Amino acid sequence: MIEIEKLISNVKPNRFRRDQSGCSFHARSSRGGVLMAISPRAIGLHVVITGASSGLGAALARVYAKPGVLLTLSGRDKMRLLSVAADCVSAGAEVDIVVCDVTDADGMAAWLTSADQVRSIDIVFANAGIGGKAAIAPPEGEANAVARLIFATNTLGVINTVTPIIPRFVGRQTGHFVVVSSLAGLLGLPHSPAYCGSKAAVRVYAEGLRRLMRPHGVRVTVVNPGFIDTPMSRSLPLPGPRIWSADRAARAVKAAVEKGRSEVTFPWPLRLAVAATRALPSRLVDAILVKHYRRTTFS
Ligand SMILES: NC(=O)c1ccc[n+]([C@@H]2O[C@H](COP(=O)([O-])OP(=O)(O)OC[C@H]3O[C@@H](n4cnc5c(N)ncnc54)[C@H](OP(=O)(O)O)[C@@H]3O)[C@@H](O)[C@H]2O)c1
Repeated sequence: MIEIEKLISNVKPNRFRRDQSGCSFHARSSRGGVLMAISPRAIGLHVVITGASSGLGAALARVYAKPGVLLTLSGRDKMRLLSVAADCVSAGAEVDIVVCDVTDADGMAAWLTSADQVRSIDIVFANAGIGGKAAIAPPEGEANAVARLIFATNTLGVINTVTPIIPRFVGRQTGHFVVVSSLAGLLGLPHSPAYCGSKAAVRVYAEGLRRLMRPHGVRVTVVNPGFIDTPMSRSLPLPGPRIWSADRAARAVKAAVEKGRSEVTFPWPLRLAVAATRALPSRLVDAILVKHYRRTTFS
């Protein structure tokens, strides 16, 4: 908490940038939390993470945090972002914080291009998403507003994160997009049709993007996690099977990115179970999943 306050107290408000969309973009130094001028910084990795204020995004920020690395961390909750930023600054990273909703296409484009001017971005993690209890469908079906919000965040939010940087990566003939989908994107569950659909959409989008970008030297990795221990999964009534810690998941994702893998899916037993549903008759899979949905209490 002291670290956070130190960061806040050392920031000079007249140096904050706020674009017309209302998204705020703050540049900070690891050296005492003094606000830095927005000017090109040439050395070290620049990693952008959306949904960095919680769960997997926060864990990714922490596993990438080290001296020389610039982390641009985005989310909507400024205090939680500051808390993650303080940990990363303690590990020696420089951290910029952006408060922005991924559904705001103009705001996202504005801060992403500003961030790329501060230092050329190397890796973009399109990680922000909604799910868990918020995405559970009632037996009578999902309301229009709920289904639209899930797609706006999980699908259009990814597109709003990726598209502003595509021409920059293509121009430089380098860069890496990491799109966080889900094992739920490989299987339509009665528990959350919109969530599964939103994640399937980004998985296939990223697959096509990977093939489009390959001749330009730009990499794309899709992440299909099973259950990760985060506020999202904790909002569900039961702990998910084979759940991984956020730190373990972040390390697995970082390793896959470093190896240039096109897809990473974990844990393997759930990956196998999902693959098995493809081999079974759909009537049988329907019967199993409908029974499971009926037996689950979501309140
Ligand atoms: N946890 C799992 O079991 C699991 C499994 C498979 C896939 N995933 C995927 O992994 C990703 C991270 O999830 P998580 O488990 O870490 O969940 P989480 O702890 O709930 O974190 C979600 C993050 O997304 C951000 N976010 C949500 N809506 C946003 C919006 N409209 N604009 C900007 N940021 C927004 C949140 O920021 P604020 O709170 O600051 O708004 C938060 O930082 C998601 O895409 C999720 O679908 C999770």
